[in-house]
Amino acid sequence: MSAKVIYGDQLAQTLRDEMKTEVATLNKRGIHPKLVVILIGDDPASKSYVSGKQKAADYIGIQSELISLPTETSEDELLDLIRQLNKATDVNGILVQLPLPKHIDEQLIIETIDPTKDVDGFHPINIGKMMTNQATFLPCTPYGILTMLKLMNIEIAGKHAVIIGRSHIVGKPVGQLLLNEHATVTYCHSKTTNLKELVKLADIVVVAVGRAHMIDQSYIKAGATVIDVGVNRIEDGSLTGDVVFDSVKEKAAYLTPVPKGVGPMTITMLMKNTIKAAINQVTK
Ligand code: GUN
Repeated sequence: MSAKVIYGDQLAQTLRDEMKTEVATLNKRGIHPKLVVILIGDDPASKSYVSGKQKAADYIGIQSELISLPTETSEDELLDLIRQLNKATDVNGILVQLPLPKHIDEQLIIETIDPTKDVDGFHPINIGKMMTNQATFLPCTPYGILTMLKLMNIEIAGKHAVIIGRSHIVGKPVGQLLLNEHATVTYCHSKTTNLKELVKLADIVVVAVGRAHMIDQSYIKAGATVIDVGVNRIEDGSLTGDVVFDSVKEKAAYLTPVPKGVGPMTITMLMKNTIKAAINQVTK
């Protein structure tokens, strides 16, 4: 068997083209979606994510502003900035790039963002809405994964999904979204003792650990769908996932590559959330 490769970059391109048309229509109605991204410090990975977001926004016609601040920025300065952006009527979405420097309380920052502008879907109010299946901003990576599965017509209801990793950004919410779609969900993490045994039961595996080449075909049930969220920079400078691609490709039915897999979908869903924020804010 050779898995069908799910090219997130191609799916993302189609969605971005649709959004471009949607934004042009909104512009005619006087609605100009705008996203503000706040980047603290100069972590190269964060800088690269942020530039991907700017590029996608430009392509779609979403206004985007990058506020780059030095690592020494105080928590109070950042809180003041967020409060200003909360009040600014021309700003629809606010994203604070994580991780933040250690002297800033990440949770406090997230909770200060107006939930109606929280296009990351990280505010506890929005997480609560997601958990109770109410319309809200879904966290972008989980939302991107769900969208990929749906676009590929991969069945979720009744299937066993095994999530490896329990971060607030990916692992926990992706499990919740799959549960909302009626999957049976198992969470695995660093304290799980029988990882391979559990992953081998999965129809859908989401790997979100951040350890290069952690999962090979010995973990995978024949015909499974494998979603690789890992982005690891290895010694030769290239990017690779958490999955041994060539090995798993021989056993799985569907597999996402890294790069060109989940990453472009994450950014695309951020754009979708920004458009939704702009529409919600004018029609409320
Ligand atoms: N850092 C890594 N992923 C994300 C994300 O989805 N949103 C934000 N704000 N920061 C991140």
